[in-house]
Amino acid sequence: MYFPLFLSLCFVASSSVDPPGWNLLFGTDILNETYKEPLIFDNPVPKWIKGSLIRNGPARYGMGERSFLNLFDGFGKLYSWQFSGNGSVFFSSKFLQSESYNESLRINDIAPYMSFDNLKPPLNIMQKELALAHGMDNMNINVYNYSGDCVVLTDTWKLYVVDCYTLDTIRPSKPTIPGAETSFPFVSLMSVAHPVREYGTNHHITILQSLSVLPGLPHKFTLVRTKSADTREKIAEWNVKKMPYLHTISITERYVIVFGCPFYVNIEKMLQYTVPKESILFHKDEPTVAYVVEIKTGKVVTIETENIFTMHHANAYELDKDNIVFDIISYNDASLVTFFEMDNLYNKTRRDGFPFKPALKRYKIDLKAGKMTSTSFDVNPKLPHVNTLEVPTINENYRSKHYCYIYGAVFKSDFKTWGNFSFVKKDVCNSTGDLSWSVPDHYPMEGWFVPDPNGSAEDDGVLMVPVVDGDLGKSYILILDPKTMKPITKAYLPIIVPFHFHGRFIENVF
Ligand SMILES: *[C@@H]1O[C@H](CO)[C@@H](O)[C@H](O)[C@H]1NC(C)=O
Ligand SMILES: *[C@@H]1O[C@H](CO)[C@@H](O)[C@H](O)[C@H]1NC(C)=O
Ligand SMILES: *[C@@H]1O[C@H](CO)[C@@H](O)[C@H](O)[C@H]1NC(C)=O
Ligand SMILES: *[C@@H]1O[C@H](CO)[C@@H](O)[C@H](O)[C@H]1NC(C)=O
Ligand SMILES: *[C@@H]1O[C@H](CO)[C@@H](O)[C@H](O)[C@H]1NC(C)=O
Ligand SMILES: *[C@@H]1O[C@H](CO)[C@@H](O)[C@H](O)[C@H]1NC(C)=O
Ligand SMILES: *[C@@H]1O[C@H](CO)[C@@H](O)[C@H](O)[C@H]1NC(C)=O
Ligand SMILES: *[C@@H]1O[C@H](CO)[C@@H](O)[C@H](O)[C@H]1NC(C)=O
Ligand SMILES: [Fe+2]
Repeated sequence: MYFPLFLSLCFVASSSVDPPGWNLLFGTDILNETYKEPLIFDNPVPKWIKGSLIRNGPARYGMGERSFLNLFDGFGKLYSWQFSGNGSVFFSSKFLQSESYNESLRINDIAPYMSFDNLKPPLNIMQKELALAHGMDNMNINVYNYSGDCVVLTDTWKLYVVDCYTLDTIRPSKPTIPGAETSFPFVSLMSVAHPVREYGTNHHITILQSLSVLPGLPHKFTLVRTKSADTREKIAEWNVKKMPYLHTISITERYVIVFGCPFYVNIEKMLQYTVPKESILFHKDEPTVAYVVEIKTGKVVTIETENIFTMHHANAYELDKDNIVFDIISYNDASLVTFFEMDNLYNKTRRDGFPFKPALKRYKIDLKAGKMTSTSFDVNPKLPHVNTLEVPTINENYRSKHYCYIYGAVFKSDFKTWGNFSFVKKDVCNSTGDLSWSVPDHYPMEGWFVPDPNGSAEDDGVLMVPVVDGDLGKSYILILDPKTMKPITKAYLPIIVPFHFHGRFIENVF
């Protein structure tokens, strides 16, 4: 009796647990690398598409006997889809050859570098101290073109320069900022994985977060202009009593918005536990503190608003001299950062029951009154899930301008099942324009909008979306028409491209 009972329990468990392809999407090491493999599309690729979609994200979750507990910590892998401009497309993929990855390969164990969460089995005290001293090194979140230098980023000041043609890792960089105070008692390691392009230029703006280790001495923000992988200019510097975790900033023609949700670094806990998971804490009873910085003068206006959390901003722009609108994906708290723990991702009851409720929100900033108030967007009753999109992307020609369309992935489209993915278009000007694409058991991720050089409307172009086809157990790159959200063409890839984070289309790499 025992044996059949055991078998039937297994059957019940496995049939009600994870949908097809789940293990390919999350947590399986995809070690294969590829170099310029030609892709076969089911319909012709528009010939005006010329350049490379380059993306980044975790694809290896352990080394030797040790593994990561949170998806965020997986070793970074780079992907490129090179569009030649004649209809041919080539796919490459390669692990980021960071110091920590090289060292981990060498010792066949996860080398002691800082990670978001603890490891399994955990590091000993000495290894933890060493990890804290080494800092973060696994740049697995984003990709930028810093005026000709391809760089990969995480939420740190350190970055890696990579070759966007071969995906080879060239070198790390920790640029200095002339005129900024970054030495003791400051520890200047934190920054954002989503810098923003400065309006009308090829420069990017980012922020350095300097933690003061002397009790009573305030922490410091330095707003910084990035002119290449190594060149930085100070725009503004100001003190803060508490240092929030930041993942992104937003920009209008004249202002930068630093939206500091009350998710604060606790230095004592950081020294004690050595991992951000235990030492960056959300304060449910505290306001969000936004800093609006005038780029030209460096003048900072501080405005408090409601208690909220966000990882991703969609866009911001000026309505007139004193009024700004600013759109974000909001959450009621910062529990999102623990959502991506393997124990949660692999427990259907837990992941479906998790309070995962992203909501698109607009803030109106009145600079004269020093006020910031939130509004929500109309819901299209036929497609209510569209307002819960994440990893927002827009037509970059509309960055810092009045715009209507946000594209993104929805992870819980039926509001019940975390795993019911769709890829959507939100019309923030009129919800009757909302659209959604989905196929059962297919898992789309962040997309990228490539504008048609001959186009005139905001949605003239294509969307490029990596998708895991759970039924076939394969990945493909999907090209969608943003006007209809219907497929134009797709190509299966030689390897799995698991759930990953961000990237962009870089022209001139073809
Ligand atoms: C991926 O690598 C494994 C192990 O080396 C190999 O067996 C497999 O054939 C590779 N898959 C592809 C699609 O190249
Ligand atoms: C743009 O339109 C012009 C005129 O119709 C055409 O000659 C040209 O090839 C088009 N360019 C692209 C990139 O589609
Ligand atoms: C397109 O250009 C690429 C790179 O120059 C080349 O390898 C490929 O064969 C070309 N494809 C066609 C269809 O001409
Ligand atoms: C890691 O090793 C690879 C291959 O040996 C090398 O090309 C790369 O430069 C190394 N990375 C660093 C950061 O030194
Ligand atoms: C990157 O951006 C610069 C402009 O800042 C541009 O000239 C260059 O062609 C872009 N692409 C690459 C691969 O550098
Ligand atoms: C899955 O999560 C539920 C709810 O948190 C918990 O009761 C259950 O023990 C977990 N299952 C496993 C296998 O860990
Ligand atoms: C939204 O679009 C619909 C359909 O085009 C139109 O009937 C409606 O008037 C628009 N609403 C607004 C507020 O513009
Ligand atoms: C997702 O939810 C929709 C709406 O309830 C449903 O029609 C669809 O079958 C679901 N897909 C999956 C893969 O669960
Ligand atoms: Fe992000």
